[in-house]
Amino acid sequence: MKGKSIISARDFSREEFLHIIELAERFRKTRAGYVWAGVHFSQLLKGKSVALLFYEPSTRTVFSFKTAAESLGVWTSYIDYKSSYYGRDGMLQWDIDACIAFGSDAIVLRSPQDFAAEFAACSVKSLSELVGSPLIPVINAGDGKNEHPTQALTDLYTIMDEKGKIDGLNIGIFGDLLYGRTVHSLSYALSNFDVKVYFVSDDALRMPPERLKELNSLGLKYEEAPISELQKLISHLDVGYATRIQKERFSFPEEYEKAKNRYVIDNEMMQHAGKDFLLLHPLPRVSEITLEVDSDSRAAYFRQAANSLPVRQALLSLVLGAIK
Ligand code: NCD
Repeated sequence: MKGKSIISARDFSREEFLHIIELAERFRKTRAGYVWAGVHFSQLLKGKSVALLFYEPSTRTVFSFKTAAESLGVWTSYIDYKSSYYGRDGMLQWDIDACIAFGSDAIVLRSPQDFAAEFAACSVKSLSELVGSPLIPVINAGDGKNEHPTQALTDLYTIMDEKGKIDGLNIGIFGDLLYGRTVHSLSYALSNFDVKVYFVSDDALRMPPERLKELNSLGLKYEEAPISELQKLISHLDVGYATRIQKERFSFPEEYEKAKNRYVIDNEMMQHAGKDFLLLHPLPRVSEITLEVDSDSRAAYFRQAANSLPVRQALLSLVLGAIK
């Protein structure tokens, strides 16, 4: 995977998913004691530099990418959405990409625009041909309502860690399936496994038809259900993946007002789920999971958030070529 840009969860094969999961597990288990081929963990990527371009607010994702990179000896530089010139005064993103490509070994990019990571990877490639800048990988850390592939890696790793397997599970995905980029990437990732997925949402927030068509052709077994059936469905599920309604992606505030607070997972709802049920959420949440659920051992979203660190350590080691 050395030099590979990570734009979509479709960029990974089943074998690559399993390889990253296995590597993340080794990072997590050995923590700071990790030694790879005689090289200590903290020196693994020494001398490398990674640009963290976050043109949209982020807490967990930027923190875990920064911590993952620096724990491996990487020098990071960070641009946030307030201090950057992104989209201002007609400045060309192309010019920004060129400057960054000259000084970095990889770009981690979050943007409010769909397909921003794909665009950046294309401009990095063209610039390397035109002006000789290095051909560095671009990692998509969330592009608009499109995808969030490294979150999907964390989600798969958490399912494997908690359930000991992915194949054979019934997985419910709830909430905003239209604008939620994590659920798009997770669905593509799950299409590599023998699972049954239940897409549970309001009619207005269903998984877009073109994505359903694609998931179908990728061989994913799925069913759609209205959010009003969540209580009935939850007892059949091994895993539930809840998401917040993505307020910032609605064009009209009235639409968001109609779409919000349409489901809640509280202790009462959890009583309908099995004893081995696993509740995930990419976070942040708004009101879709009540605070009382946090102390239920089946609620794994904080463990899931913690797992993003070893997963991103594994991914950076692979993409920057320290580990095969
Ligand atoms: C998600 C995102 O940014 O898409 N958060 C995250 O990266 N953990 C989910 C969200 O914002 O709802």
